[in-house]
Amino acid sequence: MIDIQKVSKSKLDNVSFEKLDFGKTFTDHMFICHYKNEEWTAPKIKPFQPITLDPSASVLHYGQAVFEGTKAFKDDKGKIWLFRPDENFKRFNRSAHRLQIPELPENYFYEGLKKLIQLDSEWIRPGVGNSLYIRPFVFASQPTVQATASLEYIFMIICSPVKSYYDGVEINVLIAEEYSRAANGGIGFAKAAGNYAAQFYPTSEALKKGFQQIIWTDADKHEYLEEAGTMNIFFKINDTLITSPTNDRILDGVTRKSVIALAKRKGVKVEERPIRVSEIIDAHIQGELSEIFGTGTAVVILPINSFSYKGISYTLPKKNNLAKNLKEELIGIQYNQIEDPLNWTLSID
Ligand code: COI
Repeated sequence: MIDIQKVSKSKLDNVSFEKLDFGKTFTDHMFICHYKNEEWTAPKIKPFQPITLDPSASVLHYGQAVFEGTKAFKDDKGKIWLFRPDENFKRFNRSAHRLQIPELPENYFYEGLKKLIQLDSEWIRPGVGNSLYIRPFVFASQPTVQATASLEYIFMIICSPVKSYYDGVEINVLIAEEYSRAANGGIGFAKAAGNYAAQFYPTSEALKKGFQQIIWTDADKHEYLEEAGTMNIFFKINDTLITSPTNDRILDGVTRKSVIALAKRKGVKVEERPIRVSEIIDAHIQGELSEIFGTGTAVVILPINSFSYKGISYTLPKKNNLAKNLKEELIGIQYNQIEDPLNWTLSID
């Protein structure tokens, strides 16, 4: 049973929904529960507010934290839909397990999500392009600088109304030659906070050179293309769509697996296999590389304009037919505009 404390006055009137900067505005309420004495207890929904942490809280020193990202959409009739939340729940616990964080019971995740969305439903604007970005996360809260897994944790869900992640920006990416995002046996597959922190420095260096994201390559020889910034990455060479296989370095993206399924249903040949940098350069030179796009909950499907490797920039044709097609279909399903053939959406009543 969730203890619910509602706000006395909503912040809704102060929000300009046309000018939302991704992830900077938060709804009225948040979900919070604590893990102590080997159990998750006392789930609460409270007005969105700062939390207090002891300066020695383990997460501040050792980064033991994981998160998820999912979205809620409102259809033309005002009904609210989640997209494949079961995948987020399963991945949340896979990430937690790898970071030695106790797994979360299913009902805390779903009940918290459902109640929070019901309470803050006015924050979800109808219309394609508007959605509610939902951020479940868990972190080590035990007050100790002992370098061992924490005995206490806090799980929370916060929500942010969003529009697009990159607003009309042309995406040019840099292929990593020096830095790495993930290594064999590491935590690349998990949505661990530190995976993102480790990208900030190389990405800001790349930004200074005019690149919005880095395409991460394998940590060993930087020969294989793995992910693009916070996205999974796809290459269309001739009639085939290629993406890296999931392994312990690659995030098992929900949008990634949805795109693979939709593409296959369209009759597109999809290959999940290691892909070399040299292969896409050769394909580009031969005129066979027609599209590169990133996928992720925040960006949905994002066409890439150019990539750069060893100081040479390669611009892609501007067609992006497959990316556009897949995006339209995915969005159609998410906003309940077209049939949901694979039963991905869940309505919130
Ligand atoms: C997502 O697409 O859910 C992400 O994880 C991106 C986020 C880092 C903004």
